[in-house]
Amino acid sequence: MRKYRGAYVKNEREISCLREANRMVANILDAIGDEIAPGIPTMRLEEVARDMCATYHVKPAFLGYCGYPFALCCSVNEQVVHGFPSSRLLKEGDVVSCDMGVVFEGFVGDSARTFACGEVSDEAKMLMQVTEESLYIGIKQATVGNDLHAIGAAIQNYVESRGFGVVRQYVGHGVGARMHEKPEVPNFYPGVRGMPLVAGMTIAIEPMVTVGSYEVKVLDDKWTAVTRDGKLAAHYEHSVAITPSGPRILSISDRGLPRPELMC
Ligand code: MF3
Ligand code: CO
Repeated sequence: MRKYRGAYVKNEREISCLREANRMVANILDAIGDEIAPGIPTMRLEEVARDMCATYHVKPAFLGYCGYPFALCCSVNEQVVHGFPSSRLLKEGDVVSCDMGVVFEGFVGDSARTFACGEVSDEAKMLMQVTEESLYIGIKQATVGNDLHAIGAAIQNYVESRGFGVVRQYVGHGVGARMHEKPEVPNFYPGVRGMPLVAGMTIAIEPMVTVGSYEVKVLDDKWTAVTRDGKLAAHYEHSVAITPSGPRILSISDRGLPRPELMC
């Protein structure tokens, strides 16, 4: 694989594999979204994820990664990312962020969405909407020749204009044969220029947005990141290929994008 400033540049075959891995991830997220309802334990979502991995004959990418003990990250309400599936029962009004990854023929698919459990508050709806929109605003900056940090700048600008916060402690990343490749993809403007984007780069863009302060802390389980102020957070992620004809979202399910109008 050709390398450009530390980033692996993928050829067409490699991008096809990434597309397939991400199609599976997106299909799994669709199924998880269908399952979410008041009264179900979040472990049920883990089972859906594992069952579909078995059906697809793929490996969950997160299970065992740096010791992570599940296939799925399921982060509820003030949990931002890396929440553990458990016997916890979802209740009406919960905000449920689900992050999934698989390895297909040596290539990693990685995508996340936040789901409403039943009817949620207006604040939660607004948070989810702004976070999802910010992801697409970032994706539109993923064009050949543009500065990598234009992605985070656009996301931050939009999120803050809506009165929400962008988490700094976790960032997006290059994605390919490894889940985390160079470069880091911040969801905020880090104060310096980034690298110019080139065709064949594949990156995961994943804004984590908070209702209150963007400060997070990690719980004693060593994984679950929660907002310090206990307020709600949301997380959306797409894996995207940089192509001469613009950004190509790889994590699209057989149903299509949840909100296709956001890509127009
Ligand atoms: N989408 C997350 C990431 O890109 C998922 C990683 S969870 C882990 O970092 F457990 F695998 F680390
Ligand atoms: Co990711």
